[in-house]
Amino acid sequence: MKVLNFGSLNYDYTYSLDHIVAPGETITSTKLEVFPGGKGLNQSISLARAGAQVCHAGMVGPDGGMLIDTCEQNGVDHQFVKTVEERTGNAIIQVSAKGQNSIVLFAGANRQNDRAFVDEVLSHFGEGDLLLLQNEINLVDYLIDRGFEKGMVIALNPSPFDDEMRKCDLSKVTIFLMNEVEGEQITGEKEPEKILTAFRKQYPQSRVVLTLGKAGVVYQDAQQTCRHGIYKVPVVDTTAAGDTFTGYFLAGVLSDLPMDETLRLASVASSIAVSKKGATSSIPYRADVLAAKLEHE
Ligand code: RIB
Repeated sequence: MKVLNFGSLNYDYTYSLDHIVAPGETITSTKLEVFPGGKGLNQSISLARAGAQVCHAGMVGPDGGMLIDTCEQNGVDHQFVKTVEERTGNAIIQVSAKGQNSIVLFAGANRQNDRAFVDEVLSHFGEGDLLLLQNEINLVDYLIDRGFEKGMVIALNPSPFDDEMRKCDLSKVTIFLMNEVEGEQITGEKEPEKILTAFRKQYPQSRVVLTLGKAGVVYQDAQQTCRHGIYKVPVVDTTAAGDTFTGYFLAGVLSDLPMDETLRLASVASSIAVSKKGATSSIPYRADVLAAKLEHE
């Protein structure tokens, strides 16, 4: 099974502040750092650091060299990361002293994908290959339709959720990775148990990963429901913690690990990510995750 992650690549302009700026307020940040990020790129890096082979597709501008280098340095196949005449996507991220964040996205090159490019990339993949998607690029609906036609297994992180997601035929998605807010946006239900029941009814094909913040995570498919709590660590920056979880979760699925072990590794990995600054820079390597897991046992 090959893994194709068709997703965003961003420069994250990360501002450290005492608190997240309020409407009408002006505050001076204590530090500005620029990190490679974007939900797509973060998830590819997480997959790679978890030990999976992954091919990333997407678009950057002429200024996107550092993001391609990040793929290269992490062993992510970037032959389908195309450079176009549009500024690379970026995110303005405020990180408070308590580790909370707030993000403004500029899509830039991430929304320059066209159908010809999607078709060309997908022509290199086929039945049984995994297609991972998030919602920071355009044509996600088209990618789901074409990927499904080819018999690819589609994994979707419907984040950030907006009207583009409503255009997608979610009955073609096998693996959903989302938080409670996105779960509510899809099903109309607020309670985690009701969200899961709604998925069973509306999308009986689905394998659902529902993250519940401090309450951990629950996984559900037609055969089993499995839960895992969080590991408490000092929170420095939550950016990319969810992306880290996604990469480690899918790596566990790809290597047929039992679900409780998959959730454990993904939870340990994301607990390490929140204890470090930045996006791709905070994603741990497999050896560090295994060492931290032992400490928790
Ligand atoms: O999920 C975290 C990511 O969201 C950041 O890296 C930022 O680029 C935004 O896309």
